[in-house]
Amino acid sequence: MAHSGDSVLILDFGSQYTQLIARRVRELGVYAEILPCTAPLREIEAFNPRAIILSGSPSSVYAADAPRCAAEVFSMQKPILGLCYGLQLIAHEFGGAVDKSARREYGRAEIRVEDKNSRLFKDIPVASTVWMSHGDSLSKIPPDFHITASSHNAPLAGIANKDESISGIQFHPEVVHTEFGTRILSNFLFEIARLKGDWSPEDYIESTVRQIRETVGSDTVICALSGGVDSAVAAVLVHKAIGRQIKCIHVDNGLMRRGESAEVVHTFRDHFGIDLDFRDASELFLDRLAGVTDPEQKRKIIGRTFIDVLAEEAAKFRDAKFLVQGTIYPDVIESKSFKGPSATIKTHHNVGGLPEQMHLKLIEPLRELFKDEVRNVGRALGIPEHFIDRHPFPGPGLAIRVIGDITKQKLERLRSADAIFIEELRAWELYPATWQAFAVVLPVQTVGVMGDERTYENVVALRAVTSVDGMTADWARLPHDFLAHVSNRIANEVRGLSRVVYDISSKPPATIEWE
Ligand code: XMP
Repeated sequence: MAHSGDSVLILDFGSQYTQLIARRVRELGVYAEILPCTAPLREIEAFNPRAIILSGSPSSVYAADAPRCAAEVFSMQKPILGLCYGLQLIAHEFGGAVDKSARREYGRAEIRVEDKNSRLFKDIPVASTVWMSHGDSLSKIPPDFHITASSHNAPLAGIANKDESISGIQFHPEVVHTEFGTRILSNFLFEIARLKGDWSPEDYIESTVRQIRETVGSDTVICALSGGVDSAVAAVLVHKAIGRQIKCIHVDNGLMRRGESAEVVHTFRDHFGIDLDFRDASELFLDRLAGVTDPEQKRKIIGRTFIDVLAEEAAKFRDAKFLVQGTIYPDVIESKSFKGPSATIKTHHNVGGLPEQMHLKLIEPLRELFKDEVRNVGRALGIPEHFIDRHPFPGPGLAIRVIGDITKQKLERLRSADAIFIEELRAWELYPATWQAFAVVLPVQTVGVMGDERTYENVVALRAVTSVDGMTADWARLPHDFLAHVSNRIANEVRGLSRVVYDISSKPPATIEWE
């Protein structure tokens, strides 16, 4: 674990907001990690947190299968803050009561601070807006606890023991709609738990570099650079630690966007002076994909072919002992969430059986970071901004943006349309405001006119979304003038694409990608 100072443990009872709690705490400069509530005591002790936050949960504390944590957590003498279900669990544990028939409360509510000496509510006005999301409510406070806050529907909206080392609140301070949410979390960290708040990307780099050196010694490490932000930051970080012992490999699978492989090669070889092996395997990928229309089938072929090619390339470095992967924290939590291992781990984070096949141990230097933190580490490492702020790009690349069978001609048209769209988004300074933007070639042909001739060509769809994490997304309200300009350019400059449509679906129910 890459933390050397203060750290907070967040025990996850299944709330949709758990990741958000970790982000908020880290934004306040304190390192935080999430463990499922079922984590054994020894794992919690090994993490050695200075404070503990109990998350919310969709469950009721009285349900037969109600999530619980090790009872010893409450006697570890660490400051504890319970949020929503966390509050109810504290009440339950210390002899209070929870009312199942209470009025449900979702959305904004007003709370009143009832204990003006409360450190948790220090510098917070008597009345303020919070975000509630609960069915059950507290009906009786435990002995030796007192009320710190109340709301209309939840008279016991906040409770604490005498010295506030254990406290709970019914609402969600991690959600932006809670007016003084950040202040409440910061009061818990700095007023109650007395933490320092000095965690930063530079710290992370320093301690990670030290760990990588210790782990690797004088051995060789290989790294597959996809061109995405995560693998790039991981590679540069490992390069900073061990210099020429890292051997990078970039495979062009023929499904990259225009100029992408060239940019990867240029950035890494010329800008960072990193040893980079470039393999153009586009013919092999496109051969194997010929005639395939099913998206799952495409993904499988691409995954398998990638491993075949990487294994061949990696065989050049026979003495390699490690493989760097750009796994980031959301992927890790997804796989060990309290709700059970997720079946939807993204395939691009998975190099299949390669590590076992080649007896390579994994190095995942970003496995504790969120995407925006990865970007900050990348910036601190001097990776150019236009590389760092790039939109996420799916592992199977353009294969899932050519709907139906993939041909070189369709890929070329897609690349041209996509390049125009992205170039204009950058020129109009709309790129950073969108989470992802891209073109899709549809297997639908429509009639057009070119001069005196009628044409019959594929439709191209433009998709741009805003999102915080890709889990939900809304279609981007791009200016009409902008869309008109892009559509004109595509129709004029890309042979064979005369009809352009803009996707106005949000996620859910649609997904971001079309396949
Ligand atoms: P969806 O389309 O599911 O996308 O709303 C959510 C995020 O995941 C990316 N995505 C993929 N990434 N392999 C990947 O590596 C895939 O098959 C894949 N499908 C979607 C998508 O670009 C978005 O960021």
